[in-house]
Amino acid sequence: MGKIIAITNQKGGVGKTTTAINLAASMALGELKVLLVDGDPQGNSTSGVGVSKDALAHSCYDVLTGSCTASEATVATDFDGLFLIPADKNLVAANIDLVDVPEREFRLRDALHAVRSQYDYILIDCPPALDLLNLNGLVAADSIIVPIQCEFFALEGVSQLIDTVQRIREAFQHELPIEGVLLTMYDDRTNLTRQVASDLREFFGKQVFETVIPRSIRLAEAPSFGKPVISYDVRSKGAESYIKLAKEIIANEQAARSATSIG
Ligand SMILES: Nc1ncnc2c1ncn2[C@@H]1O[C@H](COP(=O)(O)OP(=O)(O)OP(=O)(O)O)[C@@H](O)[C@H]1O
Ligand SMILES: [Mg+2]
Repeated sequence: MGKIIAITNQKGGVGKTTTAINLAASMALGELKVLLVDGDPQGNSTSGVGVSKDALAHSCYDVLTGSCTASEATVATDFDGLFLIPADKNLVAANIDLVDVPEREFRLRDALHAVRSQYDYILIDCPPALDLLNLNGLVAADSIIVPIQCEFFALEGVSQLIDTVQRIREAFQHELPIEGVLLTMYDDRTNLTRQVASDLREFFGKQVFETVIPRSIRLAEAPSFGKPVISYDVRSKGAESYIKLAKEIIANEQAARSATSIG
């Protein structure tokens, strides 16, 4: 049964999409079957894995509005084991079109639950907003990854996100644990990065992934070629760090499983 992880932070430009694409590809490289769900009208995950937004037969919008199933919207990518539910700018209309629809927060969850047995992991790239699209991502997810850029205002947005997660836990009786807080665009030559990282580790404790994602030009370049960084430059620091993150997540899940089977 595939684990569904939403990659979320309402702050823009913190590395959600870069993480969604490259974590998904790193998991697929490890011979897992992975579905990447582009939940953002910007469609950056879609173009980032080389799928053109120009002529989508179906998209995440159709899945949310119920005009097609998740499997009908799924396309294969050039990358073995990596599948995609694409998105384009039309997705923004789902926020309005679903307003009067009953159970509107559960649309993505219901659609993904129908296909989760076919995948090892399903990763949802959420938009930089606390809107209905983001809410659908969080309600669908078994856990969340929160990428945080190590910069001055990093902690400020985090408390708002924690509040939202807490409200979802209460409103939907949905556990929604934090899979991990991911430090992105990490540059340990700067005092500021080190200071923010240490504040975040103090605040979140063990919830912060051991793996950090360094600032890497290769990670920024890869999407313009429509490739995950492991296809673009597998020896780069960026590729190495996302492969390490995939291993950390898989190891955590195995440890959790064996703990429950012993307990
Ligand atoms: N580790 C990194 N090193 C260098 N550049 C990075 C790194 N991670 C992300 N970037 C670049 O920073 C920008 C923002 O990253 P990304 O699109 O992943 O963030 P996002 O949180 O998905 O943004 P949005 O909120 O707009 O969806 C992009 O140009 C991306 O290429
Ligand atoms: Mg994004």
